[in-house]
Amino acid sequence: MTGHEFLHSPGPTHIPDRVLAAMHRQPLDLVDRRLKEIAHSCFADLADVFRTRGRVFIYAANGHGGWEAALANICVPGDAVLIPEVGHFSHNWADHARALGLEVVSIQGDWRHAIDPEDIERALRHDTERRIKAVLAVQVDTGTAVASDVQAVRAAIDAAGHPALLVADTIASLAAMPFEMDAWGVDVAIAASQKALMCPPGLAILAVNEKAMRTAASLPLQHRYWDWKTRMAEENYRSFCGTMPEQLLFGLRAALDIIKEEGLPAIFARHRRLAGAVHRAVDVWAEAGALSFNAAVPEQRAVTVTAIRTGEGIDADLIRSHTRETLGVSVAGGLGLLSGHAFRIGHLGDLNEPMILGCLAALEVAFIQLKVPHAPGGVRAAVEFLAGTAPA
Ligand SMILES: Cc1ncc(COP(=O)(O)O)c(C=O)c1O
Repeated sequence: MTGHEFLHSPGPTHIPDRVLAAMHRQPLDLVDRRLKEIAHSCFADLADVFRTRGRVFIYAANGHGGWEAALANICVPGDAVLIPEVGHFSHNWADHARALGLEVVSIQGDWRHAIDPEDIERALRHDTERRIKAVLAVQVDTGTAVASDVQAVRAAIDAAGHPALLVADTIASLAAMPFEMDAWGVDVAIAASQKALMCPPGLAILAVNEKAMRTAASLPLQHRYWDWKTRMAEENYRSFCGTMPEQLLFGLRAALDIIKEEGLPAIFARHRRLAGAVHRAVDVWAEAGALSFNAAVPEQRAVTVTAIRTGEGIDADLIRSHTRETLGVSVAGGLGLLSGHAFRIGHLGDLNEPMILGCLAALEVAFIQLKVPHAPGGVRAAVEFLAGTAPA
C-alpha cells in the first residue's frame, strides 16, 4: 500500500519519529552512568505524569504484567479483591486475579456505563470482616470506551470506612486525561508504554504510594520478579530485576520529553478536542439508526477511544478488515461481549487533527463501499467541530 498507514487502535498507538529515532542506537554497558541517569530521570518524570510523590517501578512486561505486579505485591492467595466489572478489561483483570489465587468480589455492570460508586460503597459496607484488600478500578475500559471517576471510587471507599487499597488501571488514560494519584487517594496506579505514553509495547509502569509500600513490606515475598522491595535498589540491575530493556527506556525518555514540552494541560485539551471531533462524526452517522455509541452516557465517553456498536446484520469485523486492507486505516474490533458487534476508534497519544480526520474519512468511505447504513456528513461535522464553527 502506498502512503502512510494509519494506526487507530487504542493501543499500540502511533509512535512519534523522535521516539523511534531515540531507540535506534547501540545498548550501553549495564553499569554506564548514562543508563542510570536515563532510568532515574524516567522514574522522576513518570511520577510527575502520575501526579504522585510515590515510587515508580518499570517492568519489562505488558499491561497484564502490570496487573500482576500490583496484585503480587499487595495480596496473598486467599485475599479478596473487589472489582466493578464494567467492561472487557475489568472482566479480564478479575479473571487474572482469580488465577493468582485471589477471591474476586465482582460487581457486574452492563458494559455501557461507568463504575457506580454507590455499588462500591455498598459492597464494602457488606464486608464486615474486612476481607477485601483492594478495590481494582479501570479508569478507561478500552473495550467499552467508558471512562470512570476514580476519585469517586476513593470517596466511596472512605464513605464505607473501609481500609481497602485503591488500585487504578490507567493503561488507556494516563497522559491523555486528568489523573491525580495523590490528590485522589489512589494507592497503586498501573500504566503501559504502548498507549498515550507513545512508546512501543513492552513496559508496564506502576506508581505506588507509602501505604501500598507498607502493605507490600508486611507480606511474605512470593514473586521475586514483581517484588517492590528488591526493586527499591539504586543500581539498575536490581531495580529492573535483571537487564534493563534499554531501547525501550531510550524511547520512553524521548516520549517523556515530548510530554513535558507539550505539557499535560495541553495534552488533555488536545485529547478532548480530537475526541469531540470523533463524537460529532458518530453522532451524525448514528442518525440512520444502524450505528450507535456503546457508552450510553455522553459525559462518560472516553477521550481516548470510541466504541461504535453495529446494528443487526452489519458485520463490524468486515468494516475493520476493509478499512485496514483497502484503505490503510486500522481501527480496533469489539472485545468480549461486543465481539463482532462493535468497532473501536483509538484517539490517544501522538495524534493530530488531520490524522483523526483521515481515519473518520476512511471509515465513511468504507461505510459507502460496504453499504453500512449511516447518515452522511459525519466527517463534515467533525471538520466543523475542529474549525470551531459547529453549532453548540
Ligand atoms: C485498560 C486496559 N487494561 C489492561 C490492558 C492490557 O494490557 P496489555 O495488552 O498490554 O497486556 C489493556 C490493553 O489494551 C487496557 O486497555
